[in-house]
Amino acid sequence: MSYLPIASTRPAPVRVGLVGAGWMGAYHARSLALRIPGAALAAIADPALEPASALAAELGVARVTADLADLFSDPEIDAVVIAGPARFHAQLSVDAARAGKHVFCEKPAALTLEELAAVQDAVAEAGVHWQIGFNRRYAADFLAARRDIAAGAVGTPQLLRSLTRDPGTGSIPHAARVPQWTIFLETLIHDFDALNWYNAGAEPLSVHVTADALVEPSLKDAGFLDTAVVTVRYANGAIAVAEASFSALYGYDVRGEVFGSAGMVQAGRPTETAALRYGAGGLSAETPRLNIELFADAYRDELADFAAHVAALRDGAPAPDHGVPLTPGLDDARRALAVALACIESAQTGAAAAVPGFAPGSPSRTGPAHDAAGSPAASAAPAAAPRAAGARA
Ligand SMILES: NC(=O)c1ccc[n+]([C@@H]2O[C@H](COP(=O)([O-])OP(=O)(O)OC[C@H]3O[C@@H](n4cnc5c(N)ncnc54)[C@H](O)[C@@H]3O)[C@@H](O)[C@H]2O)c1
Repeated sequence: MSYLPIASTRPAPVRVGLVGAGWMGAYHARSLALRIPGAALAAIADPALEPASALAAELGVARVTADLADLFSDPEIDAVVIAGPARFHAQLSVDAARAGKHVFCEKPAALTLEELAAVQDAVAEAGVHWQIGFNRRYAADFLAARRDIAAGAVGTPQLLRSLTRDPGTGSIPHAARVPQWTIFLETLIHDFDALNWYNAGAEPLSVHVTADALVEPSLKDAGFLDTAVVTVRYANGAIAVAEASFSALYGYDVRGEVFGSAGMVQAGRPTETAALRYGAGGLSAETPRLNIELFADAYRDELADFAAHVAALRDGAPAPDHGVPLTPGLDDARRALAVALACIESAQTGAAAAVPGFAPGSPSRTGPAHDAAGSPAASAAPAAAPRAAGARA
């Protein structure tokens, strides 16, 4: 017996190197290695070599290194996924782009608009694809709502809402190790992108923040924030509210809503599955506990989209067309970061703050002062924000 010789028409998978193999990076690694036909996980780089090696062994990845430069100089790698700590993102994007690698970067893209401008320059010069991990856009219900908005279901947006409640136990262990302003720069930045994406074409002009340490009141004097409400005013007159908590006992709760002149759309499901329990005590259901449960498919689909964009550039094929603007790039990263930076100013002053670079005549500010180690300067009182141990947004 002899088999037919078949010439493959399947494009070669995009070879991806992972930079940062912690909680989020490990999840992305498993998606790249096991769940995305258009991608292959080719290497893992993380200064913490032991867990990175264990992950590489689990996924059958032969190349693992503690030296990130190994990965950037590897000609066998087309693209990188950056999932290290936020304070390194901008420089890692610059280094990757200069090495000719396409970049998928976890949020935030940078901690200041100045850093982000350097990323924009490097990406433009290298001509690589750059994408940010605003995964919420890829969740089926959020995307369906965005398509409805594009189809006119809402009319002119007037009121928008977005919320993130991270899972928690009612306390925030290791809060002292969580970088300042995380609630705006790493958690609510998802909400700011969702609001900007839903209110398409309207620039965010100003924010007003009310924030506190309601989960860990004893940490308030140290400047921690674990609870926040943000009002955003947009150029089209729409008013948006974003809120976050670092500790929801009932699980991971993410929702969005747009109300307008012609109707309303909502996204975000309260239950883990469609299964409902009816009993003598009433109605109950399981709730999602982790980001990797609620957004399992969204995390996969954002990377599949990334791989498709890279393959299109590499192979000269058409880029993916989603029917509505979907793939988040540098402009989206800048808009969401600018809102987060305005929130920091508003939290510090207690007053409304202009969104830098978007409000007419807004000061060209670049973000809070940071010391050489990348930690926010201690003088940036009064508030700091931790990410809860269970907080994974
Ligand atoms: N999109 C989402 O929903 C989501 C969820 C969680 C985290 N994140 C983002 O992912 C990023 C990582 O968060 P995490 O929770 O996985 O953190 P983590 O602490 O679990 O992992 C960070 C990893 O980066 C490694 N690292 C340290 N210094 C590094 C460097 N200079 N270069 C590369 N890697 C380095 C660490 O050894 C660690 O393995 C953050 O930006 C966070 O905001 C996104």
